[in-house]
Amino acid sequence: HGYFTYDPGFLSTASCSSSITFIDGDKGLLYYRGYPIEQLAEHASFLEVAHLLIKGELPNAQEYSDFSDTVHSHTMLHDQISTVFRGFRRDAHPMAVMVSVVGAMSAFYPENADVTDARQREIAAFRLLAKIPTVAAWCYKYNRGEPFTYPQNRLNYSENFMHMMFATPCEPYTPNPILARALERILILHADHEQNASTSTVRLTGSSGANPFACIAAGIASLWGPAHGGANEAVLKMLEEIGDVSNIGKCIERAKDKSNPFRLMGFGHRVYKNMDPRASMMRRTCHEVLNELGLTDDPLFKVALELERIALEDEYFISKKLYPNVDFYSGIVLRAMGIPTNMFTAIFALARTAGWVAQWNEMITDPDAKIGRPRQLYKGQQRRGYLAIDER
Ligand code: CMC
Repeated sequence: HGYFTYDPGFLSTASCSSSITFIDGDKGLLYYRGYPIEQLAEHASFLEVAHLLIKGELPNAQEYSDFSDTVHSHTMLHDQISTVFRGFRRDAHPMAVMVSVVGAMSAFYPENADVTDARQREIAAFRLLAKIPTVAAWCYKYNRGEPFTYPQNRLNYSENFMHMMFATPCEPYTPNPILARALERILILHADHEQNASTSTVRLTGSSGANPFACIAAGIASLWGPAHGGANEAVLKMLEEIGDVSNIGKCIERAKDKSNPFRLMGFGHRVYKNMDPRASMMRRTCHEVLNELGLTDDPLFKVALELERIALEDEYFISKKLYPNVDFYSGIVLRAMGIPTNMFTAIFALARTAGWVAQWNEMITDPDAKIGRPRQLYKGQQRRGYLAIDER
């Protein structure tokens, strides 16, 4: 159309160039900085992956120790941030609280607003990476009416998060190593995914030179939607609604009915038209965790496994290349760990913060970067004259 291309939903528009994440949706490939996601999820720790995404390379032993020490030195929240939490109703959704708390952090660290200064950008990156598990865990504690738990820096990233979620002043929490490793895997698999809606939001927000904490808060807001990060929560709600294996048939028919807006949550992906490699890894982890916890007979998990089996054999899902996505399995694993459904998207946000920070930094330092300013196809009224109110 005229001077520019009309491309709603950006189906064929590259908004930037990037060296961080590579996806081939047809072949089902996902690489972070050239490393296949399967190798990273199998062998790396989340902080190694965060280092890879943000700094461009896997760290050597010394770099890793420096990087983790710096993250650990930033895990506490400013004490006054607890008052931001206390302004919310106890039943506030964790994502509502998270958007606000991360946005509020821009007021606590105003020096980090100087995005032209590489040192300030680095400190902002460490603060975000280090504090986001504390923010997420405190959202949960506040919901439950339990006192906030402080980070324990001798624990690794995932264990520390589980400690802040589940320890109380009366009872320490000893993380189960299989569950801690499964969480670490969920974090690695969700850490980046090139120019998805929330990452594009972070870049677009940051393109005006906005405060980094405000940019990440914008990413969290975008992630919340059920078509994006909210899907893992929607999957569990759907499984609960189905309730029993005997109801799966009806649910599948509803998803196929074009006159019904219902979709099978946790199925389909904009980019993957083949099995999502993250879903394959998560599927394995899911089975490991269910076995470890002796939950394979749980009715909800039975529904999930049967739904997966039926959908994978159904002509509609096969012809439209709709496979279970990573959130189908991650929701099941998180539930098995005892994490409540309304925290699932907050955990996705905590993982994706590593990617958002890396992408924001790449955008800021890109010599070709400009303020993001899409055009539009105007479909409104032509020029017309103002009428006084009693003449309309
Ligand atoms: N159940 C039933 N039908 C579906 C589904 C589904 N989950 N997903 C897509 N379709 C159908 C859709 O109705 C359309 O049919 P038709 O061509 O006859 O109109 C066709 O498949 C293509 O769908 P689309 O909406 O054009 O595809 P999209 O690339 O715009 O949407 C999606 C991708 C992920 C938003 C969509 O598949 C969906 O809504 N899935 C359910 C929500 C979900 O699980 N989201 C998590 C995505 S993975 C995590 C993340 O990256 O955030």
